[in-house]
Amino acid sequence: MCGIVGYLGPKKATPILIEGLGKLEYRGYDSSGIAVLENDDIKVEKCRGRLSNLKERVQSSDFASSIGIGHTRWATHGEPSDVNSHPHCNEDESIAVVHNGIIENYIVLREMLMAKGYKFVSETDTEVIPHLVDYYFEGNLEDAVMKATKKMEGSYALGVISEKDPGKIVAVRKDSPLVIGVGENESFIASDIPAVLGQTRDVYLLEDKEFVVMTNDGITIYDENKNKVDKQIFHVTWDIDAAEKGGYEHFMLKEIYEQPKAIKDTLTSRIVKGEKIKIDGIHLTKEQIEGFDKVYIIACGTAYHSGVVGKYVIERLAKIPVEIDYASEFRYRNPLITDKTLMICISQSGETADTLAALRLAKDKGARIIAITNVVGSSISREADDVFYTWAGPEIAVASTKAYITMLIALYIIALYMAEVKNTIRETEINKIKDGLLDLSEGVAEILSDIEKIKTFVDKVYKEKDVYYLGRGLDYAVALEGSLKLKEISYIHSEAYPGGELKHGTIALIEEGITVIALATQEDIFDKMVSNIREVKTRGANVLGIAMEGHPDIEKTVDETVYIPRVMPILAPVYSVVPLQILAYYTAVRKGCDVDKPRNLAKSVTVE
Ligand code: G6P
Repeated sequence: MCGIVGYLGPKKATPILIEGLGKLEYRGYDSSGIAVLENDDIKVEKCRGRLSNLKERVQSSDFASSIGIGHTRWATHGEPSDVNSHPHCNEDESIAVVHNGIIENYIVLREMLMAKGYKFVSETDTEVIPHLVDYYFEGNLEDAVMKATKKMEGSYALGVISEKDPGKIVAVRKDSPLVIGVGENESFIASDIPAVLGQTRDVYLLEDKEFVVMTNDGITIYDENKNKVDKQIFHVTWDIDAAEKGGYEHFMLKEIYEQPKAIKDTLTSRIVKGEKIKIDGIHLTKEQIEGFDKVYIIACGTAYHSGVVGKYVIERLAKIPVEIDYASEFRYRNPLITDKTLMICISQSGETADTLAALRLAKDKGARIIAITNVVGSSISREADDVFYTWAGPEIAVASTKAYITMLIALYIIALYMAEVKNTIRETEINKIKDGLLDLSEGVAEILSDIEKIKTFVDKVYKEKDVYYLGRGLDYAVALEGSLKLKEISYIHSEAYPGGELKHGTIALIEEGITVIALATQEDIFDKMVSNIREVKTRGANVLGIAMEGHPDIEKTVDETVYIPRVMPILAPVYSVVPLQILAYYTAVRKGCDVDKPRNLAKSVTVE
């Protein structure tokens, strides 16, 4: 949801800014731009479209400056266009700003500034910021930015430069992520770590309302009252290669193939054969676990879909009622929360604005919060009481794959942990599930070693306008994710339905030749699912079945079958999602879609 970068040091800023923006394109790619201080004079290049457009422009301008800021945009206020692109400037172009977030009171601020004679050229909320900074400027940039932010409501990570106070970058964040890279005689700002990782492994993770002033003398961090803040450097241990494509055509494919490793890494040290479960970041006592009378699972997008599996698993193993909700719904529905409520927030990025707001709301009302996230030091990880890190490594493709699968693993471990503490299921069953979890990495690798069968289905699916996904219980949860994968990257309309619910309306859409993908991995409801498949077959659907090995009966009902290795039904989602990811990926490739950067989407959604 927009990415910002900044550089100050001895080198040419432009290539460093462009490289950083390349690593942040997953956050938005409607337009991009940079502003540099060229001989203390602000120069801006910005344009609509992908970063490649900007690259062409900066080649001809060939700035020599060693101070600059940059932005890649996911449009919220104002269509993607050159004029709405960042950086935005004040009228005489002496102040330039890049912004990630939304200034919610921008209309009031805009009117106030217009009444004072300020002129606006874009439709963006951001444009009020350079004008406000200009309004408060009295010779010192950080003081002006501090005053301006006191008037701003909403979320922001900002990078600001000015020719009136040159040799300086001022940065600040509130509810939008921002890291400061610390190099040798050079410093960086970025919305996310991969953008600085080519330059340094040492970063400061800023807290809300912390201000940073970067000059050639170094980095100074202040709180909102201009008291100096002493911060620990966070040393990034993962490798830049993890954020590169490594020979794969797309990040999505690479990330699909990284799933066996991601599963193994997420299980490591938490599930050890013959030992009790240990979860580093969760510090709940037995009394606390026994005291919870309700669990809320709150998330967005793919993370929400992992939560649908989590609801089933926690109820089944830990015997606590679980409600699952979209963060954006939960936060406005006055949810019933007490100090006996456990909330599990799931977020790959740990920065999703709605999930963060839901977390804060539940925390205020006394809930205990466990975060499941993939990003160490993210806002959600810092504000939760307990954190379960999924060790998926950086996920770059907008369509989530390995993060989803590790969220499932996290939920299994948490459910099993609670079951172990509460004694809600027999030890033999706990041990069986632990063994099953330890086998999952190999099982996923096996599925990935032979994807030819699923690829043959691509020939049919890529021509479709609509595809329906059916499943019951855990299969329905996976159907939701499979359907989302297909629609978000191939732009084919798809819907997921519980098998038994179809007859209450959606079956009216089933006609000759339509494609239905039916999941039938759950043995206890296998026959029920087969009946639902017959209902669509009778009406002319062409059905791809996903079933477990050893269930050849399915072939009597469907047109094609893809088998997953045998596994305990409760763990089947980890396997059954993989063919659906592969199907979505190759369908999008066949259609010529931009797989890693689907239209209108961004990986990290830091606006409401
Ligand atoms: C965006 C992404 C999805 C992701 C969702 C939640 O919509 O495109 O892939 O599932 O945000 O993101 P989070 O980082 O909170 O898991």
